[in-house]
Formats: sequence, structure tokens, C-alpha cells
Amino acid sequence: MKFYFSSGKRSKKINKKGRKLSKKAVFSGIQPTGNIHLGNYLGAIRNWVNMQDLYENIFCVVNSHAITIRQNPAELREKTLDLACMLVACGISPEKSSLFIQSEVDFHPALAWILDCNIFMGDMSRMTQFKDKSQKNPKNINVGLFNYPALMAADILLYQVDFVPVGEDQKQHIELTRDVAMRFNRDFGECFKVPEPLILESGARIMGLDDPNSKMSKSATGKNHAIFLLDSPDIIASKIKKATTDSNSEIVFDKSRAGLYNLLSIYEILSKKDRGSIEAEFNGKGYGVFKNALSEVVIESLKPIRESYLRLKSNEDYIRKILNEGLESVKPKAEATYNRAKELIGLV
Ligand code: TRP
Repeated sequence: MKFYFSSGKRSKKINKKGRKLSKKAVFSGIQPTGNIHLGNYLGAIRNWVNMQDLYENIFCVVNSHAITIRQNPAELREKTLDLACMLVACGISPEKSSLFIQSEVDFHPALAWILDCNIFMGDMSRMTQFKDKSQKNPKNINVGLFNYPALMAADILLYQVDFVPVGEDQKQHIELTRDVAMRFNRDFGECFKVPEPLILESGARIMGLDDPNSKMSKSATGKNHAIFLLDSPDIIASKIKKATTDSNSEIVFDKSRAGLYNLLSIYEILSKKDRGSIEAEFNGKGYGVFKNALSEVVIESLKPIRESYLRLKSNEDYIRKILNEGLESVKPKAEATYNRAKELIGLV
């Protein structure tokens, strides 16, 4: 797999004297809302798993961000732990990386306040995600939703990381994070490392099965829209069977045939075969044969994740232990950054 940075150079692992150089640090955040689907897995989580050896990784379940949309408290609590189980089931390794829950570290909202006082209304008002989300939730346009990017900036800046893997929709928030970090460093003294977005080359923009023109999403309502990582084999097969395609029967990679292209892309990633051999494999065969093969590879790929998730889910002590260790490993860094920001700005 290749990783592209928007700028900057990849660090060499060993320096001239043969000493190991420390790895670059990465912060990833994911909200505990909705079930994790194949789009989340192939587009993001799988890449996070693969980059664990390359970077020093911090993974954070951002439950404080989740409450910018009204949540049922008991459900939120459960989903937060479920997501932690799911990340570990997908291959986030507690030995290699730190995994923790945002609300366990009070320095996040505390630093967000300091940042708030250094972000201009004009800049914050330009955030397109706020506009989208407030359109979708016209009855709950709360201040936290507006302020969301300041908390996100705090998440990142507390840990002095080099990179933040993000999709297109979060790039604007990273720009804001960079701006406030640079302004703070300039006005008050060096405090924050200015992070860069990490654009992962994966090509995995998985679309909805029922609507191949829109990205697979947690919030879409169609019954056959998304394949969830916890779907049973029967459900997976039935969703794939019903996936939207077209009346042309040739199985080839053709972007203008969005439904088929999406299914073929999923097959390509999971089967690890190249496009030429996939087209040869299904040459002269129809959708039925292809969809069966696709179901099989999706079911086989998700099986170990589902099994591992169910094991973790039934062992809450273990997942809590992982989260506690994650917390202990990240907290000192957050505390040091927060204290420095506090001191620089004159808060006693
Ligand atoms: N806003 C991100 C999203 O919706 C989630 C997030 C919160 C995040 N804090 C973060 C992502 C810090 C990266 C870094 O996808």
C-alpha cells in the first residue's frame, strides 16, 4: 500500500549512525454513531490497521463529538464500547497502537476552550459540515455543533502529531486546525506541532448498493444500502443479490456503469486480484455468477471480524483494560500540551 502526504517527506526509519529514528505520529478519530459498514472498513479502518507498523498511532473514539447530535445516553454508552470492540476486531492492535475514549481525557474540552478564543467567527462560519449538519437537524442547531471543529482541533493538537488521516469531508477542519495552531504558536510561543492531512491512496470510495451514485453512509435509510460488518452471511448475500446494476450483462470495470463498478471494486480489494484477471474470470458469465463470487469473498473476509467482535463483546473487562492502557499511554502527552498552552496564554 502506498501513502501520500499532502506535503513533507517520509521519514527514514534508520539514520546514518544506524539509530532508529522515531516514527511519525498519527491521530485518527471515529464517531461511535451507527453501525460500521463495508465503506468505513475499506475506506478507512483497513488502512489504519495497515499503517500501524509505519507510524505511532493514536486511535480515539470521539464520543464527545457524537453528542453534537442528540443521542440516547444508554445507547451512546453502548455504542462507544461497541466501536472500541469493533476497531480491535478489525485489527487495531493494543500492542502497537493506543486506543482510547475521548471523554476520558478532560484536556480535550479544556483545550478546545482556549482554541475557541483564538478562532474567528468568520473562519468558523465557513465550515461546510456545520451547514450540512444543521440543514439535516434543523431542530437541534446547537452551539456544540458549530464549535465541533475546535474540539476536533484540540483532539489533534494535544498529541503533537504529524498526520491526521481524513477523507475529503474533513479537510476543511484540518485546515482550521493548522491555522489556529500556527496563529497560537506565533502569538504566544511555540506550543503545537502543525499537523498535515494524510491522504491514503486506497481508491476505496465504496458507494451505496441501492444507490451507486452516493457514498455508502451510516445514515442512509435504504434497507439494502450498506453491508454492515456484523451482517450475517445470509443478509450479506441477499443485499448483494439485490444490489443495483444495469441491463448490460458484461462484467467489466466501466466507471459509467456505477453499480457494477462499485461491486467490482469491492471484489478487487477483497480478492486482491487485479482487474485483468477479474474480467477474465467472469468473461462470458453474467451477474448471477459474479454476485455469488462477490458474496463469498465478502462473507469470508468479514467472518473473522465478526467472530472476533463477538468474542470481545462478551469480555467487557478485556476491552476496558485495553482502553485503560490506551488512556494511560496518551494522557501525559495531552496534559503536557494543555499545561503549556495554559501557561503561554496566561491562565495562571
Ligand atoms: N470529524 C471526524 C469525522 O466525522 C471525527 C473526528 C473528531 C476526528 N475528531 C477527530 C477525525 C480528530 C480525525 C481527528 O469523521
